[in-house]
Amino acid sequence: MAMTMSLPSPTSTTLKHNNTNNFCFFPNTTTNHLTFIKNNNYNNNLTLRCKCNALFGVGDIPQQLEEVLHLDLDQTYYYLELERITKDLSETQKWGFVVFAGIIWIYLTARPGVLLGAIDSYLLAPLQLGFNSLIGRRNLKRADFVVGEKLGEGSFGVVYAGAVVPKNVTLEQKRGKAKTNRLDSRFKEKVILKMVKVGVKGADECADFEEWFNYRLSRAAPETCAEFLGSFVSDKTNSQFTKGGKWLVWKFEGDQSLLDYMRERNFPFNLESVMFGQVLQGVDSVKRSALIIKQIMRQIITSLKKIHDTGIVHRDVKPANLVVTKRGQIKLIDFGAATDLRIGKNYVPNRGLLDPDYCPPELYVMPEETPSPPPEPIAALLSPFLWQLNSPDLFDMYSAGIVLMQMAVPTLRSSAGLKNFNSDLKTFNYDLIRWREYTRRLPDLTILDLDSGRGWDLATKLISERGGYLKRGRLSASAALRHPYFLLGGDQAAAVLSKLSFSKD
Ligand SMILES: Nc1ncnc2c1ncn2[C@@H]1O[C@H](COP(=O)(O)OP(=O)(O)O)[C@@H](O)[C@H]1O
Ligand SMILES: [Mg+2]
Repeated sequence: MAMTMSLPSPTSTTLKHNNTNNFCFFPNTTTNHLTFIKNNNYNNNLTLRCKCNALFGVGDIPQQLEEVLHLDLDQTYYYLELERITKDLSETQKWGFVVFAGIIWIYLTARPGVLLGAIDSYLLAPLQLGFNSLIGRRNLKRADFVVGEKLGEGSFGVVYAGAVVPKNVTLEQKRGKAKTNRLDSRFKEKVILKMVKVGVKGADECADFEEWFNYRLSRAAPETCAEFLGSFVSDKTNSQFTKGGKWLVWKFEGDQSLLDYMRERNFPFNLESVMFGQVLQGVDSVKRSALIIKQIMRQIITSLKKIHDTGIVHRDVKPANLVVTKRGQIKLIDFGAATDLRIGKNYVPNRGLLDPDYCPPELYVMPEETPSPPPEPIAALLSPFLWQLNSPDLFDMYSAGIVLMQMAVPTLRSSAGLKNFNSDLKTFNYDLIRWREYTRRLPDLTILDLDSGRGWDLATKLISERGGYLKRGRLSASAALRHPYFLLGGDQAAAVLSKLSFSKD
């Protein structure tokens, strides 16, 4: 069967040099695409929209044009395939087919993303593993690190500042002076080391979760969290390490957490130049505070949106778990209590893990009636439904609301102030509007009341019970980012900054 392909309707502009509105060429039969068309039963005249400005004979189709044609031929191939599959179907059945395919597509791409999750678990994770072992990244050893000052202690682990031992430092030196603070000039690459407590029930499991979540986020949303370097098991016992003990290692992201900054008297001004690169002169101090706090909140909620988009709920959002980097980024740390709805990872929370000061009234990410996860693949398949029905991400949004209140209201920054606020909240059924009306200890809410009370309105929509339709009565991260608090006047800080740089010139 001789076959010709006609390209009948190129635009006049594309063919104006040829002075023709019609042209044909004989396909190069060595390419698969054209062979397919030649062999199929259709005698269709293929209509290809193609921009070309020359007339070609057999065998002299330029490379570029050939590429364009291949693309179009691919599309045509799929179209023909679709037509072949549906050729015996009635019109109604064809529509049914299209709707079905659409629903499958929505299901695969709906939060938390079964399709992306499968790609991540079955393709990206093994690739990352292979790549890391190739460059030796996962092969951390005890001897690579020195342990310095203790920074914190949780129920399952102890956190230390530390450093990577440079290659040119000999073992003797390493052993002689272990403290990083004394070796600052030589130990340049600072790290955070978390020692998993030995013999504590649940500690190993918690550390495994934390490691898993850190690897997962390093692929899915690396900018939201501290850079994870890997883990090692100590091969011997000395003054710093116990043989067999497991350690997790991160890059040292910054000297202070948001809690450290909040504890200082001059908060939020102590973060002004970190966040904006300079002091916002020419603006009164209440407005300056409000701008700094808004910038911090925007970062926290943007990060939460990114991790929620991957199906992860952090469950321990609080100022101590937000590290401020030198460049003014706010990084989420401490994923030991996180949960991944998509694969049912760490699904049942250990109540003891959660900080009561930041924990929403519902306590669980899922209703208490569904506490145990189905096996992994089933959990993955069900996850879009579970996510739609339960909106587990709203758990973190409550905690973000408490962080906003603490930043904006100085008396809530102390532990005692926060405890009182929480017990008040309980009394008023987590209804901030009622709290404001009836509490006997009403603090100064000026910062939230600025700009017609947009900050206050956002706070009332984050700190609330999860009432309403499908228990969604609390803003999700993406809804919060669309709230007037962020949207309207969002460029205020930029305007102030540009005025400042203008006046400097
Ligand atoms: N990557 C990091 N960079 C800088 N500081 C960190 C980092 N990770 C943890 N820290 C500091 O260590 C403290 C405790 O770490 P975290 O992971 O929250 O452990 P814990 O389980 O003890 O809460 C944090 O509050 C923070 O001050
Ligand atoms: Mg912590």
